[in-house]
Amino acid sequence: MVEIGIIPEPKKILPGGEECAGHVIREKKLNPAFGEEEYRLQLKADGIWIEGGSEKACLYAEMSLEQIRLQCGEDLPCLTVEDSPEYSWRAFHIDCARHFIPAEELKKMIRMAAHFKFNKFHWHFSDDQGWRIECRRYPLLHEVGAVQKGDHMGNYDSEETEDRYYTRDQVREIVAYCKELGVEVIPEVDMPGHVTALLAAYPQYGGRGEQIPVETRAGIFRDILCAGKEETFEFIEGLLEDLLELFPGTYFHIGGDEAPKEYWSSCPLCRKRMEEEGLSTLQELQGYVENRITAYLKSRGRTVIVWNEAAYGGNLDPDTIVQLWTEDKENRLGAHMEKGGSAVISIVKNCYCDYPYGITSLQDVYELDVRPEGLEKAEKGILGTECLIWTEHIRDMEKLETMCWPRYAASAEAGWCGQKRPGYVSFEGRMKRLFPVFERYGIHAEKVSGWVPPKEEAERQKAEFEKNFSAEDRQEVEKMQEII
Ligand code: ACM
Repeated sequence: MVEIGIIPEPKKILPGGEECAGHVIREKKLNPAFGEEEYRLQLKADGIWIEGGSEKACLYAEMSLEQIRLQCGEDLPCLTVEDSPEYSWRAFHIDCARHFIPAEELKKMIRMAAHFKFNKFHWHFSDDQGWRIECRRYPLLHEVGAVQKGDHMGNYDSEETEDRYYTRDQVREIVAYCKELGVEVIPEVDMPGHVTALLAAYPQYGGRGEQIPVETRAGIFRDILCAGKEETFEFIEGLLEDLLELFPGTYFHIGGDEAPKEYWSSCPLCRKRMEEEGLSTLQELQGYVENRITAYLKSRGRTVIVWNEAAYGGNLDPDTIVQLWTEDKENRLGAHMEKGGSAVISIVKNCYCDYPYGITSLQDVYELDVRPEGLEKAEKGILGTECLIWTEHIRDMEKLETMCWPRYAASAEAGWCGQKRPGYVSFEGRMKRLFPVFERYGIHAEKVSGWVPPKEEAERQKAEFEKNFSAEDRQEVEKMQEII
């Protein structure tokens, strides 16, 4: 019998002895005794039998079957796969703001991710360099906010204009496509920072209130939403209302990362807000902003997610899910979780696939610690994992796909198996056997020799990547980080 590898590694693969003569699926049924994502796949002498706790779980069985077929061809063995994930949150993220990803290309990525049993797609479509979704209520968001006049991100220089965005019909189509594949879309509107494109369209809600252009450079920028004006919140609620219609899922990401508070500290309206609300720090003011937006989204039945800097004020609504990506020196997330909050783990050094393999190898992604230091006491609040791709330095699909695959598959196994992962050597062996799956889905993937680059090659890739950051850029980012 051919050795069979499945990614993510299932809980149990039980051999059945004889050959599986029937190649057709005899029965696919829901089993109410199963957990929502639990499935059983049986390859028997008389055919193939699938049971799942939900339609999505039945799909997982089919994904496993597809991988078995890929390895065994027509000679299917008799076996039973019994499986369920350790974590319910297995997300992948794509930044479509810095560089636009056409809908058809995005669907290809989603299809590939669903194959590895990801169940959430974090869709980052608004940032300093572009607002990329048609907004009916505030049309300048896509008419002005999607127009990026040039590309000076990293060591790249182009004066070409990028003005693409997703129409509402395209968004509906992508959301429906995800649903068919058992994937829930988590839209993100990043606030109160990373809003240069939004403010290029509606400057009156910014700290400065002046007309500013959509950014064409990478970095952290000073322009953030004014937290003092009531009109800011009316505007945000209006635009969220417009988006909620497109995104019927439970979760909504409101960003909260990298929001330098220089304007807030000198804005009389923001100061007044702090006084009135009894807020003693600018980070508490950010907590207030997130909580107000959260209250609105909760009233519309949604659960909110934020990046971990939003928890620095210590006053975040405990129902908010915090996505841990950066170093949290004071363990604010731990404190949030002790109040009942929950977390998604997406630490840069293991989850950010925009770094070359020479910095973040396939093994690094695989070996993510899903229970990071400081969060031990609140372990049950850890919902799962997310892998990410930021696109400042990614301008074509081949590069995007190669950066993601097979690293995203390693993240899928980290989330599915948690601490029960069989280890990198096992994963690598299975990934090699399953490599043709990428070709089948029309996806470019990094070749085996690039998965864990040797030291010299890793150094070369690192040096190449570093060319994207000048000494001045670094100084500016450091300055900004001090006022986040
Ligand atoms: C982030 O990478 N700025 C969340």
